[in-house]
Amino acid sequence: MPRLSAKDEHRVTITLNGRPVSGMAEPRMTLSDFLRHRIGATGTHVGCEHGVCGACTVQIDGGLARSCLALAVQTDGCDVRTVEGLSPDGGATLAILQEEFRNHHGLQCGFCTPGFLMTLDALFRDQPDASEEQVREMLSGHLCRCTGYAPIMKAALAAQKRLREAGAAAAPTDMPQEDAHA
Ligand code: FES
Ligand code: FES
Repeated sequence: MPRLSAKDEHRVTITLNGRPVSGMAEPRMTLSDFLRHRIGATGTHVGCEHGVCGACTVQIDGGLARSCLALAVQTDGCDVRTVEGLSPDGGATLAILQEEFRNHHGLQCGFCTPGFLMTLDALFRDQPDASEEQVREMLSGHLCRCTGYAPIMKAALAAQKRLREAGAAAAPTDMPQEDAHA
């Protein structure tokens, strides 16, 4: 790992939600501060700033990470996905997860919401058939001061059902077309 001068700023280039972005960061700048203050991607929220609340959760190279604990310079060259990347069309419409949070009142102030969404997005991508217990366990790493968690669970399970249905509808069938109608 290269040694970086602590008093200098260094260029950090990441792929953010599929688009290359670049900015300067001191070696001790966190990824959350880099995203918010250098890139202007303020969808990622910062609560506790020490890895407890989960509000700042993002995906780095497909894995979940607390962006308040990751240094921006460590992510140089990485693929970073944030809540801004969930919408299927750049923000014009909501993703299924976001729709179900709205439908089930899974948020009030919304401060914790980006973190919940990023964790659920990764969980349902990697484990579409995750049990309710597994969903609860994943969400246990997130704090919400408003909702009491029940609406968040309802929203998560409703989104999982829709995502599974959408996945099944999109899945290619092995069966030859004529056999499918036999
Ligand atoms: Fe990162 Fe709370 S702000 S875990
Ligand atoms: Fe306010 Fe979760 S909706 S903290």
